[in-house]
Amino acid sequence: MNPSHPIETHGRPIILVGLMGCGKTTVGKLISKRTGMPLLDMDALIEEQVGKTISEIFAEQGEAYFRALETALLRYLVEHPQTTPPVISTGGGVVLRAENRELLRRLGCVVWLNVSVRSLLHRTARSSNRPLLQNTDPAATLRRLCEERSPLYMETAHITVHSSRLEVGEVSRRVCDLAERFFRDLPA
Ligand code: S3P
Repeated sequence: MNPSHPIETHGRPIILVGLMGCGKTTVGKLISKRTGMPLLDMDALIEEQVGKTISEIFAEQGEAYFRALETALLRYLVEHPQTTPPVISTGGGVVLRAENRELLRRLGCVVWLNVSVRSLLHRTARSSNRPLLQNTDPAATLRRLCEERSPLYMETAHITVHSSRLEVGEVSRRVCDLAERFFRDLPA
């Protein structure tokens, strides 16, 4: 199907960041449909490359190993620009490393989907594939992650969309409009 709203990104991707459950993958799929940009889901790509689920990687090799895979993938993307720039859905912890924050900003237009902890809890309630939430108090974990990471998302993102109260179609339209403006205003 032809995309309804292709946008000029000067060969650079749109990158979605934010906490687990903020809608990066769902919104990424809608942006992909709207613009024709292919979706690159970092978690899915890492699972495919390693041949294990994220939960298995965390359990068998540990979080630090997973973080190193994220950095390697970002560095690859910066060094090998894609002919058709993708919309990239990242894992929620991608901003933890300073190196990643720098790579993300160099790579493309970084968009933070900022969602309240309350909505995140609701959206992640039934997920069993998020190792960091497999504990007795996922609400406390999400509150802590939100506190620790919000400044990092803010520092990394070119654009913030407050999306707790918006339906995903509206979020994807806003991201596209704001990203289009961002790319248009980039110095030549
Ligand atoms: C993580 C988020 C997950 C995944 C991994 C670690 C995090 O991705 O990368 O479980 O540290 O917040 P999602 O944000 O897509 O759930």
